[in-house]
Amino acid sequence: MQSLQNIINQEFNLKQDLIYLNHAAVSPWPVRTARAVQKFAEDNMIEGSLQYPEWLKKESELRRQARLILNAPSVNDIALLKNTSEALSVVAYGLDWKQGDNIVSSNQEFPSNRIVWESLASKGVEFREADLNTTNSPEDALFSLVDEKTKLITISSVQFGTGLRMDLKQIGHFCREKAILFCVDAIQSLGAIQFDVQEINADFVMADGHKWMLGPEGLAIFYSKPEARDHLNLNQFGWHMVKTQGDFDIRDWEPALTSRRFECGSPNMLGIHALNASLSLLLEIGIENIEKEVIRRSEYIIEKLSANNKLVLITSGSKKRYAGIVTFQINNFDNEGLFQYLIDNNIFCALRSGGIRLSPHFYTPISQLEQTIEVIDNYS
Ligand SMILES: Cc1ncc(COP(=O)(O)O)c(C=O)c1O
Repeated sequence: MQSLQNIINQEFNLKQDLIYLNHAAVSPWPVRTARAVQKFAEDNMIEGSLQYPEWLKKESELRRQARLILNAPSVNDIALLKNTSEALSVVAYGLDWKQGDNIVSSNQEFPSNRIVWESLASKGVEFREADLNTTNSPEDALFSLVDEKTKLITISSVQFGTGLRMDLKQIGHFCREKAILFCVDAIQSLGAIQFDVQEINADFVMADGHKWMLGPEGLAIFYSKPEARDHLNLNQFGWHMVKTQGDFDIRDWEPALTSRRFECGSPNMLGIHALNASLSLLLEIGIENIEKEVIRRSEYIIEKLSANNKLVLITSGSKKRYAGIVTFQINNFDNEGLFQYLIDNNIFCALRSGGIRLSPHFYTPISQLEQTIEVIDNYS
């Protein structure tokens, strides 16, 4: 294999003066992804869908890539949906709820992993949020809210604002012991950090492609464990989700046995071509190698920010508690001012959880992080 630096040089083509520290929001595309989309557009222009069988091969390949990146037992466990929110809704509105059931989660979740569960209040279902802001043991905070009426724990693998990385294995183990379903919003780690649905005993995992997977918005991977999948009622129907897909004359139908049953209509072929290209790059490099680089960058930022006594880290600095996101505050609370200063210096980051969120990816040059720290130190 070529050296990592060679691959990075070939595959990333950001504007010279742009420091992109916003992969936790929407990421730039690798060169091969841009080319795949350009080619797809060109093919559509000159021959429409003449090569549809080839497109279907890309779709199958994407399911295989998704299986690999999740270590799912089978491609049949993978559905391609619109986004993380849709996948969460498929779970929330697929399960049978009884009045008095509860769901345990945290108070740091992105709205998508809260609103849909809160909406079940109309069915008499309670949404319980563990306070992760004040605890040293986030998993215990979750477990303390569980009782015999808890049907599901739902959690982000990494919290979008604070960057807190959850111990998914521990939570999955707990869920198995208590026969509770386990749902993971993995959008803030998939593509950056190794993931293993089997090791963590997850029932449902979902992640859109536009963050750490370096793909487009609007195409998400949804994993469901077969035993858990069979408990999901369907709420969306169409030609694509039936067992006899492609036979448009047959009148009898039943849902596909595989996860395709969650995909009601035409696939997002444009997104499939793009995400396929992005994942091919990540898998070529290896998520293990990507993780090392991501963690190295977070470690670097944490160390440098900690050395400045005008700054306060929001992200935990303890190993295993962070992934690709580092969020911090300035102790005179002028976070908006510092944020604007960073933007004015072409450092693209985000304001989240009352602080400034930096999220470089594996390819971000360390020299750009040095520059960023200098800008922050100048301001503070
Ligand atoms: C943890 C988390 N979940 C879900 C989402 C939104 O996902 P989608 O737009 O794919 O529904 C985000 C976006 O920032 C997020 O950070």
